[in-house]
Amino acid sequence: MRTTPRSVLVIGTGGREHALAIALSQDPSVTEVHAAPGNPGIAAVATLHDVDPMSAPAVADLAASLGVDLVVVGPEAPLVAGVADAVRERGIAVFGPSRAAARLEGSKAFSKGVMEAAGVPTAGARTCGTAAEVEAALDAFGAPYVVKDDALAAGKGVVVTRDRAEALAHAALCLSREGGRVVVEEFLDGPEVSVFAVCDGTTAYALQPAQDFKRIFDGGRGPNTGGMGSYTPLAWAQDDLADVVLDRVVRPTLAEMGRRGTPFVGCLYVGLALTAAGPRVIEFNVRFGDPDVQPVLAVLASPLGELLLAAAQGRLADVPAPAFRGGAAVSVVLASAGYPESSSKGDVIAGVGDAAACEGVDVVHAGTAVDGDRLVTAGGRVLAVRAVGADVPDARARAYAAADLITFPGLQRRSDIAAEPLGVVEGASVADR
Ligand code: AMP
Ligand code: GLY
Repeated sequence: MRTTPRSVLVIGTGGREHALAIALSQDPSVTEVHAAPGNPGIAAVATLHDVDPMSAPAVADLAASLGVDLVVVGPEAPLVAGVADAVRERGIAVFGPSRAAARLEGSKAFSKGVMEAAGVPTAGARTCGTAAEVEAALDAFGAPYVVKDDALAAGKGVVVTRDRAEALAHAALCLSREGGRVVVEEFLDGPEVSVFAVCDGTTAYALQPAQDFKRIFDGGRGPNTGGMGSYTPLAWAQDDLADVVLDRVVRPTLAEMGRRGTPFVGCLYVGLALTAAGPRVIEFNVRFGDPDVQPVLAVLASPLGELLLAAAQGRLADVPAPAFRGGAAVSVVLASAGYPESSSKGDVIAGVGDAAACEGVDVVHAGTAVDGDRLVTAGGRVLAVRAVGADVPDARARAYAAADLITFPGLQRRSDIAAEPLGVVEGASVADR
């Protein structure tokens, strides 16, 4: 059995997959990176294959025909669809949970049940199947109201509001779908943090915590998005945050998943609120966060391929815990017109080369396409400008200076990514939403 991968296949199309492909290509043992389907940015560091990431047999066939040592599945949808199972059945190492374990993200009601059984600190919640149950739950928890679609909704299924009518309207929309259920929760008051735990079923290592700016507008205003920017490290957070999360959240969850016969292998993404009563889990995801993981990978000093292969093979305890360079990194997302409600395709992008030429900067592709010899928009989140620096203000200044060089019609970006020293930006108050 190889313990360092020579060739790796990355599944997905977004900025997370580009950042993963870059980090994998920098692992000295990795000589070949493949991606399916990838994007124009990933093409610079990997060989692209036009294979549907949602088709489990097609992904497994590709991995087998390429003879890769490791498959890394980026997004949640293929995981929930069983892509990791299909690859594993061919005897190929895969970083990403089985369909059964991916329910930690695929169903909020399921993940709440696991948290409860494992004693993980989280918001009180009720799963509701009728409008009457929703009304009772809203009254029980009081305002601000938190109403979540039980099913996968790409980060857009959640409404946090003081307006009871708005809460009820969102619940009604979710319930109107076939089999629709909603989860009504207690509001968690405090800054949000993302902690990524690399898990092999029993052992876990945490990466350096990051913070994601989820709302579309400055100051945490406007609707939720997939994430408009991120940074690491969090100088304002407690030093032992990652260890606390491993102890109180990740290890109990791995034990519970193992007890249920569905061990979790992959990235357990713990979305936390740091409340006055301590860290509380807002949500689990079963993959790296995007853009949250981009700056984390920029400061990762350990070889990523070796780490993810060890997790995929259940040998995490045999490799050292991931190490991080000093300094900081910041990613600023450039989104297209209409995002997050819609997105704009085909707008011509200029300045990417100039931005990427800035010191400490790389440009991560999320939703781009090539049209003739032009780079054009092809999604909601188009690019992320990522910079490393001596500290957060330095990385932030570099990221914004480079981002200023990129233009396309309708470009939207926040101007306050990583600006607040305390990070108490979003999630701290809904008064202004
Ligand atoms: P989720 O899809 O569960 O991550 O929720 C999306 C966003 O809604 C989170 O990142 C938070 O900003 C907010 N949110 C979700 N649950 C809560 C909660 N219980 N209390 C406060 N804010 C929440
Ligand atoms: N940036 C949040 C997520 O990846 O879910």
